[in-house]
Amino acid sequence: MDVHIVRHPLVEDVLAALRDRRTSCDVFRQLSRRVSVLLVAEATRDLPLTEATVETPLEPTTVRRLAARVVAVPVLRAGLGMLDGFLELVPQAQVGYFGLERDETTAVARRYYEKVPKDLADAVVFLLDPMLATGGSAAMAIEGLSDLGARRVRLLSIVAAPEGIALLRSAAPDASVYTAAVDRGLNDRKFILPGLGDFGDRLFGT
Ligand code: PRP
Ligand code: URA
Repeated sequence: MDVHIVRHPLVEDVLAALRDRRTSCDVFRQLSRRVSVLLVAEATRDLPLTEATVETPLEPTTVRRLAARVVAVPVLRAGLGMLDGFLELVPQAQVGYFGLERDETTAVARRYYEKVPKDLADAVVFLLDPMLATGGSAAMAIEGLSDLGARRVRLLSIVAAPEGIALLRSAAPDASVYTAAVDRGLNDRKFILPGLGDFGDRLFGT
């Protein structure tokens, strides 16, 4: 499994503010969107193009347009914080949703909602989930996407733990991970350290 740590001064700067406990909910939303744009730019670097012709005001010219069918699948709730940034760069993407929730005691994910475009075999599928902690949620989502035909799912995360990456290496070896940071590890409640806390709660002010 490929793991891409997206290193960029703008990513670092956004991450610094996302981690800061004093960052308010409205600013947290703006920053989630901003860092997502930067991650999407990196994760779409190899998408296929096809040649076409357009007429400039002066003459016809050959141009290259995106040739891929792109599907973005945010994991509810927290992945919603990455969707606007994704669609800003790939507005033609289809969008599906997985609703997953970790049990507060066991940290084991449970699927409660699914609405994803069918027949994903010809699509480039981007799973949006800002926190890769134990990896249980991402593994469950990737399995669901594979059942719909998806190949080589790309997971966009903002903060990942080594434990989550290790789980995905065995559960989803064909997937790729694009993340802004790989942190130290998990605490006894399976939260990422240093992390940024509960992403969904900070995004939605709950
Ligand atoms: C968070 C996060 C991931 C999951 C990661 O969601 O958004 O989906 O935890 O943890 P894991 O790697 O250990 O599975 P949560 O279950 O808290 O739901 P929420 O987004 O609705 O707050
Ligand atoms: N989910 C979060 O929102 N934060 C963590 O640190 C782990 C899981």
